[in-house]
Amino acid sequence: MTFHIHTYGCQMNVRDSEAVCAMLEAAGHIRTGSEDDAELVIVNSCTVRQKAEEKAVGKCGNLCARPGRMVGLMGCAVKRLGADVFARIPGLDFAVGPRAFWMIPRIVGELQAQGRPHAGKPANRLELYDGSDVPVGLDAHADSSSEGSPGAFKSYVTVLLGCDNRCSYCIVPDVRGREYSRPAEEIVAEVGCLASRGVKEVCLLGQSVLRYGVGNPVWRDSVDVDPDGFREAFPRLLHALNGIDGIERIRFTSAHPNGCTDELVRVFRECRKVCRHMHLPVQSGSDRILADMGRRYSRAGYLEAVAKLRGLDPEFAVTTDVIVGYPGETEEDFEATRSLMEEAGFDNAFVFKYSPRPGTRAALLEDSVPQAEKERRDQVLLADQERRGLERNGRLVGTVREVLAEGPSLRNRMRWSGRDSGNRIVVFEPSRRMAPGDLVDVEITEAHPQVLVGRLA
Ligand code: 5AD
Ligand code: SF4
Repeated sequence: MTFHIHTYGCQMNVRDSEAVCAMLEAAGHIRTGSEDDAELVIVNSCTVRQKAEEKAVGKCGNLCARPGRMVGLMGCAVKRLGADVFARIPGLDFAVGPRAFWMIPRIVGELQAQGRPHAGKPANRLELYDGSDVPVGLDAHADSSSEGSPGAFKSYVTVLLGCDNRCSYCIVPDVRGREYSRPAEEIVAEVGCLASRGVKEVCLLGQSVLRYGVGNPVWRDSVDVDPDGFREAFPRLLHALNGIDGIERIRFTSAHPNGCTDELVRVFRECRKVCRHMHLPVQSGSDRILADMGRRYSRAGYLEAVAKLRGLDPEFAVTTDVIVGYPGETEEDFEATRSLMEEAGFDNAFVFKYSPRPGTRAALLEDSVPQAEKERRDQVLLADQERRGLERNGRLVGTVREVLAEGPSLRNRMRWSGRDSGNRIVVFEPSRRMAPGDLVDVEITEAHPQVLVGRLA
């Protein structure tokens, strides 16, 4: 069958969609560029906020309203809705939770054997598998890239499934299940294999990736230290990956401030390939709100983590997520977030308006901040960040940044864009022989809040 996948949500979903693409192709199905000529359309859903869920579910509903093809929903919203998903989306053929994506080729095959998509709509299929035995490795994704995925020279690698943090507002632990860290040797082998296929940059994925190896052992000799003295599982993994020929850059996301240990800082200092960027969601700058959220750090503790990174390199890029309008957030709490963002000097920030998620601890509290006030706080923080982003980027004018060239820029096809170690977007005029995936030196000539412009040095 011809198929197409729409992906909503985070990098984890992008990665899971890539895996499904590759597995469907391996089973003989053919990927199409758009949904119009696909006999099978799959929507990979997010449920982190109500709006995100509505988008994915709405898209899926529209697809099902036009009969004649097979439609499946995968991802986080499926786990939240359970069997109700079929009442919400009449005509849906199958629904598969975030840890069951690898079962899709089999389910599609079985439905096809029943004569779908053309032979009416008999029993639909729901799969909510929640175990740890998820084949997320290389075999599962071969040479794939899907919507929103980086090119062939960049690859995501899932290292940690699920999440055991219990932040009061967050539905992710309910939908993505318990933490499970993949064996380190398996990850090292996978990255080695990617390198041999020409991948230059890997991004290690986990909901709280610095907890890698905390819940289950990942190194066969996990009581020992490695020859260079790395003891903690994640720094040790980064150090091992840094030694793989062909890999030029190693990134990871998302990080919890409590995992920002001295050993992790040592990795940034000693391992050239580990990029100097951390996405370090702070959520709030108010100690009272942080405690209520169950974040397990204080404002001071967070700023200390940032200071450690900037002490190593003043241009170390720190980006963040912030929630405005958490239940009971006062003007004073909000101003604390505002001032924390200034003190931390974030290079970029994503601001989210609090959205109650059923089953979470915060959903039991009154959603006390009116929508209009959430909007206002959102706008204030975004305006602050525009100015701050311009200031931070302005400091780089006149310096030379090493950039991984990605290809023609979306806005101006005469120019190329790429990213520096801090994940900053850099736009420049390419040379004639340049290929995507090349590392080039670019002298920065112009700064914008979210983009740097430069010329080849
Ligand atoms: N409401 C609003 N934002 C949320 N996030 C997580 N849960 C919620 C929620 N219930 C945000 C957090 C997280 C990002 C991925 O989404 O900031 O870091
Ligand atoms: Fe959305 Fe969270 Fe699921 Fe990612 S893990 S798709 S952000 S709900």
